[in-house]
Amino acid sequence: MTYVVTDNCIKCKYMDCVVVCPVDCFYEGENMLVIHPDECIDCGVCEPECPAEAIFPDTAARLAPWLALNAEYAATWPNITVKRAPPPDAADLDGVPDKRQRYFSPLPGDGD
Ligand code: SF4
Ligand code: F3S
Repeated sequence: MTYVVTDNCIKCKYMDCVVVCPVDCFYEGENMLVIHPDECIDCGVCEPECPAEAIFPDTAARLAPWLALNAEYAATWPNITVKRAPPPDAADLDGVPDKRQRYFSPLPGDGD
C-alpha cells in the first residue's frame, strides 16, 4: 500500500503535503507532485493537509492509473521537501474536471 497524488493536484500544487511527510517521498513535476510508492510509509498525515483533497490511499481500484503515474514520474522527477507558493490561479483550477487530459505535464519541476 501507498498513498498517491491524483488529478486535482494538477495546476493546484499547493505543496502543503511536502512539509508534513516524515520520509520526504514527494517528487516535483512542472505542475503537480507525486509520491514515490516504494518510499511512502503509509503514515497518512499528508492526506488531510492537501487543500485540494488530491491525496488518497491506493486501496481504491479506481486509483490504479494514478498509482502507475506516481510510480513512473517519482522515478525521474526531482525530490521536493520545501513548500513554495502555489500557482496564482490555483484556486480557479481547484475541481476543474479532466485535468489529466487537459493539463498534465510530464516535465520535471525544480525540486529543492
Ligand atoms: Fe509521506 Fe506519509 Fe504521505 Fe506517505 S502517507 S507521502 S509517508 S506523509
Ligand atoms: Fe498537490 Fe495537494 Fe500536495 S495540491 S502539491 S497534493 S498539497
